[in-house]
Amino acid sequence: MTDKSAIDVLLKEDRVFPPPESFTQTARVSDHSLHKQAEADFEAYWAERARLLSWHKMFTKTLEWTPPTCKWFSDGKLNASVNCLDRHVVTAKRNQAAIIWEGEPGDSRTLTYYDLHREVNRFAGALKNLGVKKGDRVALYLPMIPELVVSMLACARIGAIHSVVFAGFSADSLADRITDAEAKVLITADGGWRRGKILQLKHIADEAVKKADCIESVVVVKRGEFKIQIEEGRDHWYHRLMDDAPRYVEPEPMDAEDLLFTLYTSGSTGRPKGVAHATAGYLVGAQTTTELVFDLQEDDVYWCTADIGWITGHSYIVYGPLACGVTQVMYEGAPDWPERDRFWEIVEKYGVTKFYTAPTAIRTFMRWGDEHVKKHDLSSLRLLGTVGEPINPAAWMWYREVVGEERCPIVDTWWQTETGSMMISPLPGVTPCKPGSATKALPGIFADVVDHDGKSIKSGGGLLVVRKPWPSMLRTVWGDHERFVETYFSRFGPEIYFTGDGAKRDDDGYIWILGRVDDVINVAGHRVGTMEVESALVSHDDVVEAACVGVVDPVKGQAIAAFVTVREGLEQEPDFADQLREHVGEKIGPIAKPKTVLFTASLPKTRSGKIMRRLLRDIAEGRALGDTTTLADSSVIEALKKKYEENP
Ligand code: WTA
Repeated sequence: MTDKSAIDVLLKEDRVFPPPESFTQTARVSDHSLHKQAEADFEAYWAERARLLSWHKMFTKTLEWTPPTCKWFSDGKLNASVNCLDRHVVTAKRNQAAIIWEGEPGDSRTLTYYDLHREVNRFAGALKNLGVKKGDRVALYLPMIPELVVSMLACARIGAIHSVVFAGFSADSLADRITDAEAKVLITADGGWRRGKILQLKHIADEAVKKADCIESVVVVKRGEFKIQIEEGRDHWYHRLMDDAPRYVEPEPMDAEDLLFTLYTSGSTGRPKGVAHATAGYLVGAQTTTELVFDLQEDDVYWCTADIGWITGHSYIVYGPLACGVTQVMYEGAPDWPERDRFWEIVEKYGVTKFYTAPTAIRTFMRWGDEHVKKHDLSSLRLLGTVGEPINPAAWMWYREVVGEERCPIVDTWWQTETGSMMISPLPGVTPCKPGSATKALPGIFADVVDHDGKSIKSGGGLLVVRKPWPSMLRTVWGDHERFVETYFSRFGPEIYFTGDGAKRDDDGYIWILGRVDDVINVAGHRVGTMEVESALVSHDDVVEAACVGVVDPVKGQAIAAFVTVREGLEQEPDFADQLREHVGEKIGPIAKPKTVLFTASLPKTRSGKIMRRLLRDIAEGRALGDTTTLADSSVIEALKKKYEENP
């Protein structure tokens, strides 16, 4: 996406949509005072935001910055579950719905803050009974059911570090993540529902645990009547553990910098990294941005459609909304089950006011046609949000006109697993929006677009960096602090955080994200490392070498194109490309399956043996080849180009 054509497309966009006056009138933020305050003294701004949390012991220090290591509020003590629950159940929020959950088959459950508090306490006790202690890691491999939220908060209550693994990942991916974190307990379910089919979670978990011998106990939530194996001694039904657990568990007073969770994400190497977040700073970021960017109001019914397996679900289903005490909808399944209007049916059914989803979903809805949206009364909606990938202006306009009925401001929020919370986004009562731009940095965030030497670019394209630390910044990569320094704080030195994204700043100072500049492909808003897919491909006996690149995809933003060399003399079966796609699906998970697989006798390499991905991208996107002078053997690329043109 960082090629010139993407920049040109964005350059043409000159529509501006100021916030509707009626929205600004009641908005939490209706002028630039927060931006100004934070600009003048960002530490004071963040300290003020942090005092809105509930503390066991109030902090006195705000920031200690020894680049690239930051500590925020370090002498304070607090507990995340207290901030999400205990402080609400002593107010009128006690019997307010916290989660209105809708299962894919149409079942539903409502948990009030009091209900959630009870469940979390019980499960915290159950985990303690299993021997889980402060600082232990617990892996979660669950469908989108309330027990996932309960499990996360129960870990937080006793000071265990949770590591949620997206339920679409394979047994190998799950095992790798469990082993890296050295988790001792795995929480899973007998199954889950996705597009009418059963996700065999327990079965996959069993496979993973065979390879991850650090696991001592497996807790199994009963979602359905799914047939599974229970291994006596190791496996425990969630509901049985709950029966034997105490009603109340004293929350562990955590140091502000104690880790709250790790979440694995793809980077430029084959191994995903465990992004580690600190308790207080993360909560400050999640609470602040949920409140301000979604402009929370007392009567809101908020819905974020992300899966909790990703950072968006952590920050904007679990910690942000619950810390703010909102009522939210949580949905288990697919947007087209049983019909393509399921999301809009849910919006109408619960009177959703704030709706947060991904550009891929928006482009899919666009393709499905307006009628599915228009069938429903969406007049409850007040604000729309997007996250995860660049949104093209056409999709932004469709979202505004068809879903938002031209009434709702749109917040295009740029952030990352590593940043913990939103960084660049409109404040909906203040910022005029331009379709396709995440607009400007939020108060207290010092985002900048720089050239290769780290010099600010006032207007034009470059690399996106953050110049000052912020509370919800990742603290380390689990078990590999060097990798943390190397990945984020070496490109421009230890003071400046490098995001891995390219961006452009326009003449009004608006930032337009152009996409990743590293070896990460953003498929439908999910990060996939090229090296991970390549390793999966070469793990197939018949594959000698593989190279993957991201190519533009009209719906998913990017798709994966794989170039594969097979062992000599192999008689390829006609469906060998599909077999390889399936192989990658089994090794990593369906999101990592390449869209196209092209077989080639050899890959284009430099004289030093580096694969020239740039040229592969040119081929896969049907462009004229860029500079080929550094190639060791230019006939390779010519042959490949010819082959691709014959069989695109
Ligand atoms: C991309 C998701 C453009 C970006 C919260 C980033 C975006 C990566 C946007 C992080 C946006 C996220 N506009 N691109 N509004 N939001 N991205 O860690 O490339 O899953 O680096 O976090 O998604 O993906 P991650």
